[in-house]
This record gives sequence, C-alpha cells and structure tokens, in this order.
Amino acid sequence: MLKLVKPSKKYIKSFLKVIDDYKKDDNHFARGEINPLIQAIEEDTVDEYLQKLSDYEKGKNMKPGYVPGTTFWLMDGDEWIGAFCIRHALTPLLEEWGGHIAANISPKHRGEYSSFIGIKMCLAKANKLGLDRVLMTCDVNNMASYRAITGLMKMYGGEQISDSQGDTYHQHRIWVNTKKIAKIK
Ligand SMILES: CC(C)(COP(=O)(O)OP(=O)(O)OC[C@H]1O[C@@H](n2cnc3c(N)ncnc32)[C@H](O)[C@@H]1OP(=O)(O)O)[C@@H](O)C(=O)NCCC(=O)NCCS
Repeated sequence: MLKLVKPSKKYIKSFLKVIDDYKKDDNHFARGEINPLIQAIEEDTVDEYLQKLSDYEKGKNMKPGYVPGTTFWLMDGDEWIGAFCIRHALTPLLEEWGGHIAANISPKHRGEYSSFIGIKMCLAKANKLGLDRVLMTCDVNNMASYRAITGLMKMYGGEQISDSQGDTYHQHRIWVNTKKIAKIK
C-alpha cells in the first residue's frame, strides 16, 4: 500500500537501489530533491542530509531567500517510489518556476500513476500546512507532469494561469485546490 513518510534511515536501503536508476536518468526537469541525496550518499553524509531536511522543515539554517519545506517519500511497503517537497510558501522565483510542490518519481516506477497519487496525498498534507490551494509548475515539454497536475485540477478544482517564461525556462502554472481532498478520509 502506498504511503507518504518522512525521510529517515529506515528507508535508505531501498532508496540506494534507486540511486543507480537516477544516475542513468536523462529526465533532468526537476531533480532538486534527488541530487543532494545522491551527493550525500556518495560523500557518506546521509545523517547530515536527513538533518538538513529536518531543519528545512523547521526553517532552520536556511539559505538566504529560501522558505521552509516539508519533504515526504512515497513508499510502497518497503519500496522507495518517489520524493515530494511541499514548500510552505511561495517566493517570486517559486511563483515563476517551482511552485509549492516538487515531485520526483523513481525512473522504474514512472507511468504507474505514482506522481498523480503522491501529489494527491500531498494536497491533503498541504491543506494541513494551511494552504487552501497550491501552485504547481512544470516545463511545457513535461507531458507526464502536466497531465498529472491538470488531472488533479479537474478533480479538486483550480485554474491554469498564464505560463511563465524566462531566458532558460517556459513553465505551465496551475493552481490546485486542497479543501476538497482534505475532507476525504
Ligand atoms: C514527471 C513525473 C513526476 C511523472 O511521474 P509519473 O509517476 O510517471 O506520472 P504518472 O504515472 O502519475 O502519470 C501522469 C499522467 O502522465 C501520463 N504520462 C506518464 N508518462 C508519460 C510520458 N512519458 N509522456 C506523456 N505522458 C505520460 C500518464 O498517462 C498520466 O496521464 P493520464 O492521466 O492522462 O493518463 C516523473 O516522470 C519524474 O519524476 N520525472 C523527473 C522529475 C520531474 O520531471 N518532476 C516534475 C517537475 S514539474
């Protein structure tokens, strides 16, 4: 059964199996949640990385201009499926690129509706964090992400707003409401 958990050493073994897949992964749209852990594991500082995630959630030791964010791992029993980060607020940059929720699915589990299910679970978590709606962004070429997000927008309400475009990015931007999902038990 799929569940969202806080990152911990309990699940590191399963994550290690995914690392090799990620190293071969050529989908570089949003690897922000994965690259630091790959690096941490290579440098043998998993404890430090997990501590950083815990600090990040509490807004401690933050990089300038960063807002707090809660990271969840999506697990199927003991198997690591993906990572999601819910930022607690937007910055001008996140409004253009990144939004509230980042998603990364293990390459071998893509196309199984894992991101759809994981983001759906994150909508309820976001509501508990006080967010009535979340902004989701994705590269205009990232069809999987776009379809997952618009599917959730159709189910739970929201709206697609104008794309954001800069020298190096062109993002679709979609608000998804969290109130309806928060009421479902
Ligand atoms: C983008 C990503 C999160 C999608 O995860 P996923 O679990 O494979 O997606 P899902 O299985 O939930 O599929 C969602 C939708 O995309 C479709 N889809 C899946 N893979 C697809 C692909 N390669 N091309 C086009 N559509 C695809 C599915 O059919 C589904 O659409 P539908 O409801 O209309 O049938 C995953 O590919 C990933 O981790 N990529 C690397 C990081 C990244 O790009 N993150 C998102 C940044 S915004």
